[in-house]
Amino acid sequence: MPPPRQRRILVTSALPYANGHIHLGHLVEYIQTDIFVRFQKLRGHECIYLCADDTHGTAIMIRARAEGRSERELIAEMRQAHLADFAGFQVAFDHYGSTDNPANRRLCGEVWESLRQRGLVVSREVQQLFDATAGTFLADRFVKGTCPRCRTADQYGDTCEQCGATYAPADLIDPVSTLSGSRPEVRSAEHLFVTIEQLHEFLAAWTTSGSLDPRIANYLAGHFLGEPLRDWDVSRPAPYFGFEIPDAPGHYWYVWFDAPIGYLAATAEWCEAHGGSFDSWWRRDGGTPAEIHHFIGKDIVYFHTLFWPAMLEAAGLALPTKVRVHGFLTVNGQKMSKSRGTFLLARTWLDHLDPAALRYYYAAKLSGGIDDIDLNLDEFMTKVNSDLVGKVVNLASRTARWLEATGLAETYPEDAGLFAQAAAESVGIADAYEEGDFARAMRAVMLAADRANAYVDAEQPWKLAKAGPDAAGRLRDVATVALNLFRQIAVHLAPVLPELAEQAGRLVGGPIRSWDEAQTPLAGVPVAAFTPLMKRVEPAQTEAVIAASKQDAVTDKNTSGGSTMEIPATAPADTGEPLAAEPLAATCTIDDFAKIDLRIARIVAAEEVPEAKKLLKLTVSLGGDATRTVFAGIKGFHDPAALVGRLVVVVANLAPRQMKFGLSEGMVVAASGAGAPGVYLLSPDSGALPGMRLH
Ligand code: MSP
Ligand code: ZN
Repeated sequence: MPPPRQRRILVTSALPYANGHIHLGHLVEYIQTDIFVRFQKLRGHECIYLCADDTHGTAIMIRARAEGRSERELIAEMRQAHLADFAGFQVAFDHYGSTDNPANRRLCGEVWESLRQRGLVVSREVQQLFDATAGTFLADRFVKGTCPRCRTADQYGDTCEQCGATYAPADLIDPVSTLSGSRPEVRSAEHLFVTIEQLHEFLAAWTTSGSLDPRIANYLAGHFLGEPLRDWDVSRPAPYFGFEIPDAPGHYWYVWFDAPIGYLAATAEWCEAHGGSFDSWWRRDGGTPAEIHHFIGKDIVYFHTLFWPAMLEAAGLALPTKVRVHGFLTVNGQKMSKSRGTFLLARTWLDHLDPAALRYYYAAKLSGGIDDIDLNLDEFMTKVNSDLVGKVVNLASRTARWLEATGLAETYPEDAGLFAQAAAESVGIADAYEEGDFARAMRAVMLAADRANAYVDAEQPWKLAKAGPDAAGRLRDVATVALNLFRQIAVHLAPVLPELAEQAGRLVGGPIRSWDEAQTPLAGVPVAAFTPLMKRVEPAQTEAVIAASKQDAVTDKNTSGGSTMEIPATAPADTGEPLAAEPLAATCTIDDFAKIDLRIARIVAAEEVPEAKKLLKLTVSLGGDATRTVFAGIKGFHDPAALVGRLVVVVANLAPRQMKFGLSEGMVVAASGAGAPGVYLLSPDSGALPGMRLH
């Protein structure tokens, strides 16, 4: 076989926010990218994996302020935590930079210069939401409210996840600052914009040139490119943690301007450290053209497929070869949730479970598409135990010991074509890795493992071992075949399971350095003593990780990207005190229950009732024009401003009651009782809509 042409491949994962810890959702991306990179390296290509912390923006500023320290101290600490988490999951970057580094400031300046020279920058007054409680303008991601187009509740300030609309945060209906929970006010400030409409034709051509999955290209054509592209707001007025724009003092580059340039900065830093040439990666300088692959989640498609290529084009830099988009992680079928204990932090997983098991499970789930990926913990356990422990590791554990004394047979024995069959499948497995269809690759490898195990079952080496010296030659042959098939599997799994590949190399044949090692069986080499490779996952471990995650949700204020709300100050004790103090009511029938019409409602206005000690006057919406006035006994426990916009449960068919202060047309459901002071409102899962009935 002629050696494959050596490619030059630059690979990135999206830069994680320095504002929160790495969680299992992030790892869908970093593990996936790492597998792709390890695969390319194993194939002998020149491949570099670059990433960095995304450090700038309002969230970091607010959090540093709350913690009474500098932003730089905070991001330095988060960097250490991120690096430890990534190392724990064997995510091996060639360079891990920071968007706060000097190289990034310099490159931002250069790209900015190009945009200016091309006349793409304009200045304009903008209405921006200002959080007076937090004393800052609000980044789009820190405003939530109802989508002005489709009216879906609980959407971020820039785009609607439901209908895909993009808008200004000030357009949101009933906006709420997620920093303070207060209702932001609209203020005017000067901002700088990039007029990317001038690159419309270029983007229409580039997005359909093969760099994107056709589904993504269609989405862009349908949602953005069918109409003029809106100017992109790339500056923020002080106070802002970021780089001040050299030719616009008092203005800072918006975090999403300097973040993708972080890919360039990481390249520059890597080149600096390794004597590489930046231009050979990002400019066509005559050598082998480099490929550029960005791995991203589906939430940041706009930035990477419209704005980023436009910036690169304007700056005369190389364009992405591929932007590879993946879906979101759900756990046990639902969005990760702190209260359910499924908001799983990387380090919590590492405390209880094997990172390699997660790498394998993700690989088996990732097919290169943009569908969401579900981590079902029962399925995870079954799959890892049956595939990795039951098929792969088992193959070595039940045959290696017969070869400890003798080593592999001197010539590779007759194996009914098993090694050659898997060697021939190597091409298809490689294609699957290349396409990002790791699931297909894993299926092919597991079929090979099934065939290998069937071979061992049929040959029954344990019987040969008992049969005495006459069977010794046959035993050595059978075990030689089994260990070769094991090592071949380890080669094909090496991108996913680097540690298993190393252990396989230590057991027999030395370090696995090339994909082509799956082509030739070994013979006449020593076999080391077998050491256990991977352990079964036990239910107690997955239970422990859920329990620990519930605890994380209580003690860690910064796992969700900056939200400072919703975290109780004390750990739940579940003492039984509330129930004991108020025993259950008499049994009711389902018909009794059906008489009470409980509905989801949105609080659209909230005000104090000055003459009443306990009451707030709430206006709740049941959707459409249906609103009710309700007096709720929650004063003192809830700031009226913070309530506006949130969803609650109301008894919608309660007979209206005339009160001293007005007519109450329903009741907001809340919990209270012994054990903890306070009145606790109920919130539905996100996605619930006003008017939905509780059953
Ligand atoms: N800082 C930006 C990216 C800037 S790139 C120039 C960002 N950071 S992030 O920390 O929120 O997310 C980093 C990556 O992880 C993104 O690609 C995002 O889609 C991905 N994921 C974050 N949560 C995820 C899940 N729950 N599931 C799958 N991927 C997720 O966005
Ligand atoms: Zn919408």
